[in-house]
Amino acid sequence: MPKLNENYLNVQDSYLFAEIARRVRAYEESHPEKAGNIIRLGIGDVTRPLTKSALDALHRAVDEQAAADTFKGYGPEQGYGFVREAAAAYYGRNGVDVDADDIFISDGAKSDTGNITELFAKDNVILVPDPVYPVYVDTNTMDGKHVVYMNGTEENNFLPMPDERVKADIIYLCSPNNPTGACYDREQLKIWVDYALKQEAVILFDAAYEAFVSEPDLPRSIYEIEGAKKCAVEFCSLSKTAGFTGTRFSYAVVPKELVFAASGGQKLSLHDMWNRRQSTKFNGTPYIIQYAAAQVFTEQGMSECMDNISYYMENARVIAETLRRKGIPFTGGVNSPYIWFKCPGGMESWELFDYLLEKIQVVGTPGAGFGVNGKYHFRLTSFGTHEKTREAMERFDRLF
Ligand code: MLT
Repeated sequence: MPKLNENYLNVQDSYLFAEIARRVRAYEESHPEKAGNIIRLGIGDVTRPLTKSALDALHRAVDEQAAADTFKGYGPEQGYGFVREAAAAYYGRNGVDVDADDIFISDGAKSDTGNITELFAKDNVILVPDPVYPVYVDTNTMDGKHVVYMNGTEENNFLPMPDERVKADIIYLCSPNNPTGACYDREQLKIWVDYALKQEAVILFDAAYEAFVSEPDLPRSIYEIEGAKKCAVEFCSLSKTAGFTGTRFSYAVVPKELVFAASGGQKLSLHDMWNRRQSTKFNGTPYIIQYAAAQVFTEQGMSECMDNISYYMENARVIAETLRRKGIPFTGGVNSPYIWFKCPGGMESWELFDYLLEKIQVVGTPGAGFGVNGKYHFRLTSFGTHEKTREAMERFDRLF
């Protein structure tokens, strides 16, 4: 009989968004007459189709696969040079110098932020903000690792800062934050980088929503901060930036400067370890997707993405306006597609989830799914269509 990884006993039965989908399905089954009325503003899944640059590139790449002299089989596990260069050039246009060789192409920031746990031993002190994207906690728990929470509250605008008295080895940061939409400023990130350098800790920086940062002074990459290459890995994705949630493309930057001492004294490079991990366990993102991603990273490709982002941010504005009118406190919606608000009437977040589904057939994400500090908060995504978002907020307006 196999001995199982019993750490799985320590995670909840289902992943947050799987649980939401299950509850919505159950509602549809028990209320078939209402099923067509449901508006989904829960999981952050995009609704705009792929951009022209991405689509044209996909078609070209498929045609290449149809001809023997352009056909591609296995590619480099780290990603093709052309797309790593294109991602580095995108960083460059945003004023950040990243070596293409430090960029590893993958199929999702979810996979990368989960898989990176393999590089670290069990007995690290792992700091994770609460609330935050649940993947960090679940993947560490599945791996038998224990995390220490940093409280994100209304008082600190859901942006916890380091506590000098706490010794840390690994620090997860997500900015713009999922779920709260709050974004660290340069001074705050500098404090984190200085703290990590002093502690010889590594920051795992999730920048999946960087393209939504609209305030020009806010950092979109941790490498805008001096010293970050010596202490930070950065995760990025085209899921939300380019509508690739179903197409799948992400990239992790693992700088060669990230070298730490092993217990026997020898030096270990995180870049080399990640390279070894990826080349052993991953055969790369499909060529056609990498080819399309390279077009997304061009100036024209990104400008088309920004049109879609503006479309979503108009939804964020509509949601924010409704909440403001109702006097409901919220964060996000300016540098992020997410709006995080206090549940009205002192409700708990799963209670509000059921209430909204039952009364107005609007699906959101309960804050409790992102951590204990989300118990009385709720997240709405702006990735819906204009029509459905407006309709959802009109229903919300009538309900409260
Ligand atoms: C979310 O809704 O938080 C995201 O879509 C989840 C993800 O990116 O995996």
